[in-house]
Amino acid sequence: MKVREAGLREGISEVIVTTKSASGTFNAAPIGIITRANDYFVKLYSGSTTLSNVMETSRLTANVTDDAVLFVKAAFKHLDESYFSLFRGFPVLREADSWIVFQAMLAKKSSEYSVLHLMPNAVQINREELKAINRGLNAVIEAAILATRYPVVKDEGYQEQIITLMKRYADVVEKCGGPREKEAMEFLAEKFLK
Ligand SMILES: Cc1cc2nc3c(=O)[nH]c(=O)nc-3n(C[C@H](O)[C@H](O)[C@H](O)COP(=O)(O)O)c2cc1C
Repeated sequence: MKVREAGLREGISEVIVTTKSASGTFNAAPIGIITRANDYFVKLYSGSTTLSNVMETSRLTANVTDDAVLFVKAAFKHLDESYFSLFRGFPVLREADSWIVFQAMLAKKSSEYSVLHLMPNAVQINREELKAINRGLNAVIEAAILATRYPVVKDEGYQEQIITLMKRYADVVEKCGGPREKEAMEFLAEKFLK
């Protein structure tokens, strides 16, 4: 399967994971796919809809995109049905550059998180564009990760550090980002910096 060609490389690839519950409800969330040699894993923190859906249906789709707005919306909003299309009844993101549908098997479970081993079932590549590194995009991703941690961190000092860092990332987005990065950062700023 052309998983590497679809964009997943050694290390951690930030994608939008789409899943389906046993009752058929779709979900999307930003998640890191871990690649070690030819093995793929996810580490899912307890309490997420993604984890409960994967435990129910044993499948997930890794949707590769560099759309900063999609990342923050998937993290903080419910994506309605218009964002999804179906591959053999399973949700993928309509706007993904590529996607990989994985079979997921529980490899490790603790009270804090579960690790799942992923086996590719199907791959689709919709778009192949050359993209230079944009610091604004990287800054949005870092800010979005901090933003998803903020509500679970109880320590006030740590929360202040998160806000300080997010402001620094907002400056990078202002300087280096394009319209999608600026819109995404504005969404985060409305929620956390105002
Ligand atoms: C770029 C990025 C990567 C993330 N990677 C993970 C991850 O690997 N595992 C995880 O459990 N949460 C990860 N998160 C946090 C989840 O996206 C977040 O907890 C989300 O609210 C879960 O949504 P859900 O309840 O709809 O599944 C990540 C967030 C961002 C912004």
